[in-house]
Amino acid sequence: MKVKVSRKANFNAAHRLYRKDWSFEKNEAVFGKCNNPRYHGHNYDLIVSVEGEIDPETGYVMDMKVLKDLIKDQVEERFDHKNLNEDVPDFQNLNPTAENIAVVIWNYLRPHIDSANKLEVVLYETPRNFVTYNG
Ligand code: NI
Repeated sequence: MKVKVSRKANFNAAHRLYRKDWSFEKNEAVFGKCNNPRYHGHNYDLIVSVEGEIDPETGYVMDMKVLKDLIKDQVEERFDHKNLNEDVPDFQNLNPTAENIAVVIWNYLRPHIDSANKLEVVLYETPRNFVTYNG
């Protein structure tokens, strides 16, 4: 019997979507306002889910306190109140789109989650736009 447990978290970060190897005009055409050279911010909402068997001893799939601390250490400490392009090495050569941020977050969390359990990351860049990555 598999159960999925989820934890919500939040971080604020600035970014700019552009490619260094494209002209400003091409970046503007593809990324529009998101290419603003002075950056812009988002209030990101994150839902991290772990799916697996219930441990018969504890009754847990995963201790939510452990998951909470993991998200804090691996995600919030890295991204909260940061300029993703300038401050976060993962995005030196990777466009900080919601898609890429979700994959980076998944890759940081995966080694810390029991390998028997499935990991899912849902990242909301705005209340209406969100992406999902399952590995
Ligand atoms: Ni944006």
